[in-house]
Amino acid sequence: MKKNVAVMGMQWGDEGKGKVIDLLSERAHHIARAQGGNNAGHTIIVQGQEFRFHLIPSGILYPKTKCYIGGGTVIDPAWLLKEMEGLRHHSIHFDKRLFISPYAHVVLPYHRLLDQLSEQKKGKSAIGTTGRGIGPCYVDKVQRMGIRMAELVHPSLLQTRLEKVLGAKNEELKNLYGHSGCSVEEIVREYTEYGKALAPYVAPVEEMLFAASEAGEPILFEGAQGALLDVTFGTYPYVTSSCTLAGGISAGLGFGPSQIGCVLGVTKAYTTRVGNGPFPTEFSTSELALFPDHTSSREIGTTTGRKRRMGWLDAILLRHTICLNGADRLALMKLDILDGIEEIQICVGYKLDGKLIKTFPSTVEELERVVPVYESLPGWKSPTRDIQVYDELPSHAKGYLRKIEQLVNVPISLISVGPDREKTIWMDPIFE
Ligand code: GDP
Ligand code: IMO
Ligand code: MG
Repeated sequence: MKKNVAVMGMQWGDEGKGKVIDLLSERAHHIARAQGGNNAGHTIIVQGQEFRFHLIPSGILYPKTKCYIGGGTVIDPAWLLKEMEGLRHHSIHFDKRLFISPYAHVVLPYHRLLDQLSEQKKGKSAIGTTGRGIGPCYVDKVQRMGIRMAELVHPSLLQTRLEKVLGAKNEELKNLYGHSGCSVEEIVREYTEYGKALAPYVAPVEEMLFAASEAGEPILFEGAQGALLDVTFGTYPYVTSSCTLAGGISAGLGFGPSQIGCVLGVTKAYTTRVGNGPFPTEFSTSELALFPDHTSSREIGTTTGRKRRMGWLDAILLRHTICLNGADRLALMKLDILDGIEEIQICVGYKLDGKLIKTFPSTVEELERVVPVYESLPGWKSPTRDIQVYDELPSHAKGYLRKIEQLVNVPISLISVGPDREKTIWMDPIFE
């Protein structure tokens, strides 16, 4: 078995990556985030206690792990400090265990403003972003107008950079949205304090991960968002602004692809999405009524508290995202949510204008028009929550899992039947 494992979302995010990372962290020494920011929300339940992570890798709960926030991420410093405070509150110590790349970009107040104001202005065609300033921060990065952690921790550099870029940002705020803009002095005052607080954690993450890899110590890469939110290959423009695929790990952590090893794709036993955009297998109102409500199924967004849209498992989508990630194993989450369903549908094909199509549509217009072809499988109508070994699963549940493996041609390595750590059926140890 390969040493390093990448845990990637195979749908539109919220697949249960946090739980999987937490489980695997017991055996990993290093856990690293390559992209995204506090648009992510990863929930973990340990002995009835709920932890929510947005920026800090979910592996931090294990005392011996080292956690890294890579150069490809975007960091809202106030948010990160709040998350650190939450850990202290739970007596989880992270000094010399949490490292931030100086190359990561900083989310500034004008990024959040631009995100929220542009969404408001778009009206019905809004993306449905998290409003956390993620997109505008990545825009500035690519436009070479960004401010990085390296500058944040040096007040004079922070001021010089801000003086160079804020004029243009304020013009954008004023001209497009009638907003009065932001002041250099105020941002410098507030962010200098953040810089001071975060400086002890800024470290050469890239070199540290390379050294860990050379020493043969297992590394876990924690994906954020999901493949169909990828800025290039997702359901554009209803996507996030970073590369959410396994390939993004190299770019976002400065970590060579030859050492990535196993790509574990995380999928729900059904499909969800938050925010706007096409969703071929989305439930009708009557189908949704068959399911437990959003609170009991834990389908309220961790980051924004929005109800997630829900639908049947889409094997066409899954096969496509397995391809985009080169996923060689799957973690199948939330099987328990299907426990009460009489008849389970699984999408096995797409029809467009009456004809079966072979490739995943590249435009939102087509994806909105596809008609899913379903295969119907009998439900098992009994609780799976307390089952810990595969053999004890109801035969129809096994049939559903086998059908998925057959359709997507990738083995399932773990099955999750509840939010807690122990509600997990292991099919293969993943890390040895
Ligand atoms: P992530 O963004 O991929 O880490 O996923 P989230 O944490 O945002 O959303 C997944 C939600 O489902 C969380 O509330 C988890 O606690 C919960 N969850 C994860 N696995 C299971 C499972 O197997 N069964 C149930 N019922 N809930 C689960
Ligand atoms: P995790 O890591 C689900 C979605 C937003 C919106 C789109 C763009 O918890 O799986 P953004 O704020 O990123 O510009 O919003 O992307 N989105 C997510 N959906 N899970 C996430 O992260 C998400 N991060 C962003 O809802 O549709
Ligand atoms: Mg989430």
